[in-house]
Amino acid sequence: MLSTHAAPLNHGMIMGLADKYNHVPVLAGKVAEMLVWNTSGTYVDGTIGGGGHARAILERLGESGRLIGLDRDSEAVGAAGARLARGSTPRVEILQRDYTELASVLEAKRISRVDGLILDLGISSYQVDTPDRGFSFQSDGPLDMRMDRGKPLTAAHIVNESSRDELERIIREYGEERQARGVANAIVRTRDRAPLTSTARLADTIRSAVRRRWAVKSCARVFQALRIAVNQELDKLKLVLDTMLPLLSNRGRFGIISYHSLEDRLVKRTFETWASDCICPPGFPQCVCQHRRVAVLHTKRAVVASREEVAKNPRARSARFRMIERLPDDQHAHCN
Ligand SMILES: C[S@@+](CC[C@H](N)C(=O)[O-])C[C@H]1O[C@@H](n2cnc3c(N)ncnc32)[C@H](O)[C@@H]1O
Repeated sequence: MLSTHAAPLNHGMIMGLADKYNHVPVLAGKVAEMLVWNTSGTYVDGTIGGGGHARAILERLGESGRLIGLDRDSEAVGAAGARLARGSTPRVEILQRDYTELASVLEAKRISRVDGLILDLGISSYQVDTPDRGFSFQSDGPLDMRMDRGKPLTAAHIVNESSRDELERIIREYGEERQARGVANAIVRTRDRAPLTSTARLADTIRSAVRRRWAVKSCARVFQALRIAVNQELDKLKLVLDTMLPLLSNRGRFGIISYHSLEDRLVKRTFETWASDCICPPGFPQCVCQHRRVAVLHTKRAVVASREEVAKNPRARSARFRMIERLPDDQHAHCN
């Protein structure tokens, strides 16, 4: 049985989407192999995209296994729904929701805990490759960048309404761009002539502010920064890291694939804290933190894609997969 709950799209639109939604999942086999430990369990794909990871998870689930897929992009929900309906599936349900709303999704379905959650962060190739979505500096389109097009905040709004200092902060913090000040100044000069509304004009503005040999990298970093700001990606990630653990069953697993160091640092630090007996600063003679280990780390080092996978799918180059397993409540340890 498969059901989807997306913003209204008619049947023809959904089947068309499934055909043109182009995204090759990264590390799909490895993720499913590590995540699925109970073949009759309940799993959540919080970023279902085109359904590639979901398909790999479903292939490992038995008849009574269940998968809930979420995405805040209605086009992803439509495409994943149509694709997963094509195979024989155990119980699958796909909803247009933000993964930070998982607790309320589960509550509405009277599910108290799940056996696994996967988040494949960032954007899909389909989103980048669709000029109309405004994510790419390599094609012209509206300065949009919203994953959920029902939300009001767009990249155009940030670029045209933010102060120079705020623009600089966004570009420096989320894009790790060294020329952040120069790019923010150039944006302010350009928008003073006429509002910046297209990706091509923003890309030209960035190119005008940096050395030519760094132009492509700077464009990529500034576009990444704006995308993170528009979609509040780091805040969402922090929130799910703060709230997810109680939603995992004993031995439940939580895996995250990240694509840039800002996300990966956050995931690594949080997972290591969960898996540590003590978080006192180094050199403390005695433990005073009262910290309890609540999880086991399955990835001491992040899992990365093989050379063969990167050759076939260049997007896999920057992927880092980390995963923890929740310890049963009675095994939460403390070093004292
Ligand atoms: C890299 S793609 C996922 C691809 C997917 N794993 C597959 O196999 O096709 C990331 C997806 O996450 C979605 N997304 C990002 N942040 C989200 C959030 N906070 N809540 C729900 N979906 C989100 C994006 O809309 C996008 O479709």
